[in-house]
Amino acid sequence: MTVPAPRAEADEVKAPAVTGDGRHLLSIADLGAEGIEEVLRVSDAFVEVARRPIPKVPALRGRTVVTLFAEESTRTRFSFETAAKRLSADVLSFAVASSSLKKGESLRDTVETVAAMGVDAFIVRHASAGAPAQVARWVDASVINAGDGWHEHPTQALLDCYTIRQVLAERSGQSIADVGIKDFAGLRVAIVGDVAHSRVARSGVLALSALGAEITLVAPGSLLPPSLEGWPVTGVSHDLDSVLPTVDVCYLLRLQTERGAGSYVPTLREYTAGYGLTVRRAGLLAEGALVMHPGPMNRGVEIADEVADLPRSVVLRQVANGVAVRMAVLFLLLGQVVGGDAAGAVAGLGPGFGAVDG
Ligand code: CP
Repeated sequence: MTVPAPRAEADEVKAPAVTGDGRHLLSIADLGAEGIEEVLRVSDAFVEVARRPIPKVPALRGRTVVTLFAEESTRTRFSFETAAKRLSADVLSFAVASSSLKKGESLRDTVETVAAMGVDAFIVRHASAGAPAQVARWVDASVINAGDGWHEHPTQALLDCYTIRQVLAERSGQSIADVGIKDFAGLRVAIVGDVAHSRVARSGVLALSALGAEITLVAPGSLLPPSLEGWPVTGVSHDLDSVLPTVDVCYLLRLQTERGAGSYVPTLREYTAGYGLTVRRAGLLAEGALVMHPGPMNRGVEIADEVADLPRSVVLRQVANGVAVRMAVLFLLLGQVVGGDAAGAVAGLGPGFGAVDG
């Protein structure tokens, strides 16, 4: 992810200090540690915007964003649409069920047709890994991966990192602006559950390891990928009880029954017995350890009902931060950043600037 395609004042529009090809966010690997940190820092400004009586700025006025979700979503879709609207972009919500895809039109023809109407960004969710990358080859617009098959869900990882950073700032008494990559070094994170089918796990491991966290995957062998080559994790365990007391963050994954995960465990009850964060197991966590989950939660399967609602569970905070983080991603991709100074551009969104009528 880097610079928006220049529109006006081309000489003044330069890339923010993020990596990638400059137009898309398809993988956390597009960002690297520096790019992740930039997204987190830009998100700070949008968290502040969210606290305003009218949480809206004109940064993307005149831009058109399409949410193309060919797979179910509650959080990601509403979060992106809220983010785009708060940036004053025009938002087109593509409904597969009522589209000509149902008449047999190909994804390529569909995307090119919508793009011909003048679109600046496609936000794509698809059951097939690589679908957002394909869309990026067909259109000139920016493409953001909103979750593709088992592959990646980069904005989920970014909002998770943001939430951890926010808690680190609160606990240390530092301003959030003072919390950066250095504070993730040595952070111990357990990612628990259906790793094999999880795009959240793939993006989360890439993002957290890039920031210096130490990650342990905890899962039955049947729910781990066939090979962990290239996965930058510190360890793998099949014993959740022994891992829980050692971690700062327990990140639970949803058992993805729609991707067949149910057939990789004997029964849901046995899965919960071995790998669910039950009330007893939550008691093994160190004081201050966080419980995170990307949602939607299978209460009573990977997480007990009571545990999901504990103060240490930051699930709804993850959702709230998702809007600000997605505003940052859209702003970095589509906003005009003068002189490569994204932080400066965002500072212009501070109090006294940029409020627009509802
Ligand atoms: N976390 C997440 O991607 O949730 P949705 O499927 O509801 O978007």
